Amino acid sequence: MKTNYDKFLQIFSVGSLCVLFSLMTLGGYVSSSGVGLSCPQWPLCPQGLVPSYEFIIEYIHRTLAATTGLVVFLTMAFVLRGRNSLKSTKIFSVIAAAAVVGQITLGAIVINEKLHADLVTAHLALGLILFSSMIYVVINIFYTNQKLKSQNPASLSTPDHPSNVNL
Ligand code: HEM
Repeated sequence: MKTNYDKFLQIFSVGSLCVLFSLMTLGGYVSSSGVGLSCPQWPLCPQGLVPSYEFIIEYIHRTLAATTGLVVFLTMAFVLRGRNSLKSTKIFSVIAAAAVVGQITLGAIVINEKLHADLVTAHLALGLILFSSMIYVVINIFYTNQKLKSQNPASLSTPDHPSNVNL
């Protein structure tokens, strides 16, 4: 059976964006409800991997951050592997992966520095850079697939068998 790699990439990147969106929305709740320091240690909360009611929101924020880190990195790997990926898609997937590493590191610093306003602002700003980069990657993947499809409906490729259509 032929693997439709481009379609897979489309679905996976949208899934990654949804996980990131949930994380950033939850981050807003962590900030506005003042539970940012309910987990004073890093990387684990006081009871290790066991979630507890007092720090459940911050616990979910961290768990989702780890999941986001994984899926953003996988998105980058899949984009770099895809033979139909545009150069700009590759560049922005690498930017997103770098931003996710920076964001997770900054999250830890935010806790260590007891929610210093400058650092929380930087955490929001870097989150926005990450989110914008991922949106760009997703839109580019859709654009590429659409263009391939309109030029040759049978052209969506497997990673090892690129389409010959010129983008
Ligand atoms: C990809 C990873 C992450 C993203 C995209 C992200 C995103 C966000 C966003 C958008 C906010 C709301 C900021 C605001 O409203 O000003 C937030 C808040 C926060 N994040 Fe993250 N975050 C990430 C990882 C982490 C990690 C790993 C930690 C800690 C270990 C962390 C700790 C916090 C804390 C403590 C707050 C609340 C700050 C406050 O009370 O004002 N974040 N995050």
